[in-house]
Amino acid sequence: MSRPLIIAASVLAANFSKLGDEVDHVVSAGADWVHLDVMDGHFVPNITFGADVIRALRPHTSAVFDVHLMIAPCDPYIESFAKAGADIITVHMESGPNVHRSLQSIKALGKKAGIAINPATPISGLPYVLDMVDLINVMTVNPGFGGQHMIPAMLEKIAKIRQLVGKRAIDIEVDGGVTLETAGLCTNAGANVLVAGNAIFSGGTQDAYRQRISGMRLVAESHR
Ligand code: DX5
Ligand code: ZN
Repeated sequence: MSRPLIIAASVLAANFSKLGDEVDHVVSAGADWVHLDVMDGHFVPNITFGADVIRALRPHTSAVFDVHLMIAPCDPYIESFAKAGADIITVHMESGPNVHRSLQSIKALGKKAGIAINPATPISGLPYVLDMVDLINVMTVNPGFGGQHMIPAMLEKIAKIRQLVGKRAIDIEVDGGVTLETAGLCTNAGANVLVAGNAIFSGGTQDAYRQRISGMRLVAESHR
């Protein structure tokens, strides 16, 4: 049995002046998860928001909060994101020398743990954390900004990770440049979680979000 297809809406592309409404609208429009990109201006060249914003959004929905930490160091902040209401906390393989410990901390807090790998990072470290992760985030753009084009070479990487994961209960998430055109390529390669920011939120209205999410779900399912 393959894992369910998940559309994770990245609020990085939402209207930040009404973030609570945006979360309400995108979940009502059919998004399965809310993907929250935390950036520190150090690990990546952009700054977004921290745990307080996630805490403020938490009462808006019971949808899974998929928190993607693009921060270094990450260890001092993991507990605050867990307490703020994250369901999944993903840390980057490149965030420091002790990412195994970071994953242990996430699990000890009772949260699902994700590992993200940048486009130039080989998959050779993954076997050593496979028994502690619930999700692998394959970055298909260089992290830091929404609205970039997917790097085509990442599709082969997704397929290799799919093989590596085998029957384990691990979600394979694609993050960056997922559109109506690329979604099918990603699920065909073996991904089951599609992060989409601009492809959803550039629609601007809840009706457009609904159309875009259902369109993406259709094409993604048909290529699995
Ligand atoms: C990029 C972030 C992504 C981003 C994707 O560093 O991790 O989650 O929001 O945006 P789109 O879907 O617009 O490429
Ligand atoms: Zn992300």
